[in-house]
Amino acid sequence: MNLYTPKITIQLWDSAKYRAFEIRTSVFIQEQNVPENMEFDVYDESAWHALAHLGNKCIGTARLNIANQSGKIGRMAVLSQYRRVGIGRHLIGSLIKFGQSHGINKFTLNAQVSAIQFYEKYGFEVNGNVFQDAGIAHQKMILNFKTNLKHNEFL
Ligand SMILES: CC(C)(COP(=O)(O)OP(=O)(O)OC[C@H]1O[C@@H](n2cnc3c(N)ncnc32)[C@H](O)[C@@H]1OP(=O)(O)O)[C@@H](O)C(=O)NCCC(=O)NCCS
Repeated sequence: MNLYTPKITIQLWDSAKYRAFEIRTSVFIQEQNVPENMEFDVYDESAWHALAHLGNKCIGTARLNIANQSGKIGRMAVLSQYRRVGIGRHLIGSLIKFGQSHGINKFTLNAQVSAIQFYEKYGFEVNGNVFQDAGIAHQKMILNFKTNLKHNEFL
């Protein structure tokens, strides 16, 4: 275990919301200027939320909504000073493993265009055209373990 191996917990919104709120406020609302009324939505209530901790400090979060045999990943956020040291990898890996343990083989997400290469590392493939959401360019991506076994070595 190195200095930046986070402890990941996966929780429902009621117990995750205080820490997830802080991270997402910092990353999406303050850093990326996403309006607060778009950042927090009804899907938070039905999602599983991964939280990344280093010691007592929560430094990252992401959520997974499971519906119709598919898992939708979203709100991937790592505090700026902790990026590029593997925290995002642990977050997404934990949510995918969690989804798989619930019988899910297909995962989707709407990637910010600047993060597409991050998701490609885990086997996600772009699908469809670029679109704008909250003023940020996005593209849908899909990871289907039934058809794409290329990049699952992180699991
Ligand atoms: C995108 C984000 C979650 C990635 O988290 P992170 O903790 O920095 O990612 P990691 O350090 O685990 O990176 C894992 C790998 O992806 C690469 N990577 C990380 N971010 C990348 C990016 N934006 N573009 C290309 N590669 C990236 C890393 O270099 C690393 O590569 P390696 O395994 O070859 O060394 C983080 O940059 C973030 O919170 N950004 C702001 C919010 C955001 O844009 N979220 C995405 C919404 S779709």
